[in-house]
Amino acid sequence: MNILILGGGGREHALAWAVMQNPKCDRLIVAPGNAGTAQIAECSDIDILNPVEILGICEENSIDFIIVGPEAPLAAGVVDILKDAGFLIFGPGSQAAKLESSKTFTKEICDACGAPTAGWARFEDAAEARAYLDRTGAPIVVKADGLAAGKGVVVAMTRAEAEAAIDDMLGGAFGAAGASVVIEEFMEGEEASLFVLCDGTDVLPIGTAQDHKRVGDGDTGPNTGGMGAYSPAPVMTDAVLEAAMERIVKPTVAEMARRGTPYTGVLYAGLMIADGEPRLVEYNVRFGDPEAQVLMMRLGGQALDLMLACAEGRLAEMSVNWADDHAMTVVLAAEGYPGSYVKGTEIRGLDALPEDAFHMMFHAGTAMSDGRLVANGGRVLNATARGATLREARDRAYEMVKAVDWPDGIYRSDIGWRALD
Ligand code: AMP
Ligand code: GLY
Repeated sequence: MNILILGGGGREHALAWAVMQNPKCDRLIVAPGNAGTAQIAECSDIDILNPVEILGICEENSIDFIIVGPEAPLAAGVVDILKDAGFLIFGPGSQAAKLESSKTFTKEICDACGAPTAGWARFEDAAEARAYLDRTGAPIVVKADGLAAGKGVVVAMTRAEAEAAIDDMLGGAFGAAGASVVIEEFMEGEEASLFVLCDGTDVLPIGTAQDHKRVGDGDTGPNTGGMGAYSPAPVMTDAVLEAAMERIVKPTVAEMARRGTPYTGVLYAGLMIADGEPRLVEYNVRFGDPEAQVLMMRLGGQALDLMLACAEGRLAEMSVNWADDHAMTVVLAAEGYPGSYVKGTEIRGLDALPEDAFHMMFHAGTAMSDGRLVANGGRVLNATARGATLREARDRAYEMVKAVDWPDGIYRSDIGWRALD
C-alpha cells in the first residue's frame, strides 16, 4: 500500500522507519519530512495544515493510508476532511482532539466519567483567579487553556510565581490559547506516559515510557519538548497499568463515544503516580516526541498493522507482540535550545554509525545543504537504541551520541537516571 505520514520531527522519522519494516508498505511519502526520512522515503514539502494540499497529494499518489504525527493538523480537523473524502487515516477528528487542545474540555470529561485527576478551576478574569489562590496557596499549577506548544504550563512553587503566570497568560502572552486559564492542584509523584490505541470502541495499550522534559542534567533548567526517553517505564507496573486503563482510559473513551465524538487514534495519557495510584496530568492525541522513537524501536513493523487495525475499527482482533526488551533515545539539540539557537551548523560522523534493529539515529530538525547535513531546528537528532536491559540500551545510545561530530550540539548525560539508580 501507499502510505503518507504527516510531520517532520524525530517522531515521524521513527514512524517512517517502523512502517518501512512492514512488507505491506510499497511506497512511503513523508510530508514535510527531514534529512533522515529522505534517506528511507520520499519527502513532500506541502503545508500539513492545509487540507486542500493534503487531499491533492493523496489523490495524485493513490495514498491508501495516512498517519498524522503532530497535534496541530489534528486540532485543525485534517482527519475529518480526509475521512469525508474517503481516505483511511490514523488520528482523532477535531472534536476528539480537544482532549489535547483544550485543558477545560479534558477536565470536564474527567469529571463526567470519574477519572482521577488534579482538582481544578477555570478563570477568564485575573482578579478572580488571584482571589482563588487565597484558598489554595502554593505550590499550584497554572495552565493556558489552549495549545501553547508545551509552554503554557507553569508549576508555581510560590504564590508570586502563580500570580505572575496568571497575569502573563490572561494578559495575552499566549494569544487565544490563553483567553482562559485552568488552575490546578499540584500533584506529587512520579510521571509516566501510557500509549493506548483506540478505535472508537476498543482499546489496546501499546507501551509505556518516561520522558525528560528539562533541558539540563538532574532535571534542571527550562522545560523542553523532551530531551530523551525510555520504554518501558518501570513505575508502570501491571497493577498501575490496570488501574490507569480501568479508571482513566476506558472511562474517557466511553464518555467520548457517549457524546457522539468517539476517540480514534493513539491516546497518550500523561500520568502522575503516587503510592501505586495513577492520576491524569494531561492527554495528548498523538504519539509523544521523543517517546515515539523508543516505542517504534520496540514495536518495529507491527506498528503499521496496529495503526491500520485502529483506523479500520479492528482493534479487538489485535494484540501486541512484545519482545522482553528496553529502548532509550537521547536527544541532541542545538546549543541554546529551548531558547534561541542557530541553524545551519554542520553535523558529521553519522555515516559511520550502525543502523540495525538495535541502533537507529532518528533525525528531527535536520536538512541537507550543498551536500552537507546541517542542523535545521532545536531538537536535531535522536540516538535511539534497544537492548536486553535498559543499561545495555543506554550504553548503546550514548556510544552513538559520542560518535556524532557536531560541536554545536548539546545533550543530557543522565537519560534514564530514575530507572537506573
Ligand atoms: P502538561 O503540558 O499538562 O503535561 O504539563 C507539563 C508538565 O507540568 C507535566 O509534565 C508535569 O510535569 C507538570 N504538571 C502539569 N500539571 C501538573 C499538576 N497538576 N501537578 C504537578 N505537576 C504538573
Ligand atoms: N515529549 C512530550 C510530548 O510529546 O508531548
